[in-house]
Amino acid sequence: MRAAALLLLGVLAAAAAVAVPALATETPAKKRRVVGGPGVVARKEDIPYIKCQVCELLAKNAWKQVKGMAKAANASHPLKEEKIIERMENIAVAWRPEGEWIARLDLVEEGDRLAVKEMDVVGNCLGECKAVQLAAEQIIGEHDTDIAEVLFAGRKTRAQFNNWLCYELSGVCRTKPPPLPRDRMPGPAFEPRQEGDQNVDAMLGGLADHGLHGSKLRDQLFEKLGVAPEQEPDEDDTSPEAMLKRAMKQAQLEDEAKAAAAAGEKPTGDQVSWELAKTIDPEKTEL
Ligand SMILES: *[C@@H]1O[C@H](CO)[C@@H](O)[C@H](O)[C@H]1NC(C)=O
Repeated sequence: MRAAALLLLGVLAAAAAVAVPALATETPAKKRRVVGGPGVVARKEDIPYIKCQVCELLAKNAWKQVKGMAKAANASHPLKEEKIIERMENIAVAWRPEGEWIARLDLVEEGDRLAVKEMDVVGNCLGECKAVQLAAEQIIGEHDTDIAEVLFAGRKTRAQFNNWLCYELSGVCRTKPPPLPRDRMPGPAFEPRQEGDQNVDAMLGGLADHGLHGSKLRDQLFEKLGVAPEQEPDEDDTSPEAMLKRAMKQAQLEDEAKAAAAAGEKPTGDQVSWELAKTIDPEKTEL
């Protein structure tokens, strides 16, 4: 049990390290903040205005990343198609290094369009970033292996790959986006990631990577750490233990909501997790 708890703290430390690769230098380091997580709901209403731009950025980044992989390959470590499939599974996950391009984007109102702007620094993944992430997930959809196959074959130029992904396969660029309503509720301002920001998405992802979603170990850890189901750690407590408790609690809510969504029922209680469970399945969301 102690070993498991230590392992988890290690996972959290690794997740935190993943979460803060780039620092905004112009502002002084702030007190640790807890950012992201299931509480941040994707602004799905923005997706129709940005999906084509997101697709073109996805195409650009997928292309660039696979080129980098090909360059790093050699006779003893050839580039394998499975590696590209793996890459495509992670490229639309903003907290992962492969999906970091998503956390560098900002949505900016420009007259009657919503422009997707590439920023110089990585931001915390708030509602607009989650919308970009969802749009990218929907574009990839069930096609990660097809996309990987095309990139692995290397027979398309970058422009041809872009057109194939955005016009043929996903079709998101076939029609012009509708004009942006004047009364669009502004999204949250782009928030550069600061040293010490604790990304709950990365923590939960780290737990899930280690098979701790829905596992008995989590319940045991709750018990050993003395977290009663109804007990929330103090909001201001940013110790690793409190972060762990929060991440585990959120993972549990997520699992419960997903199970309820799968059973077609609306769970009593946590509305945020229910909303999240609906956004998580790209197949259940209309483009
Ligand atoms: C081949 O690539 C691998 C992984 O990138 C690297 O560790 C290794 O040193 C390379 N070998 C040669 C002969 O360049």
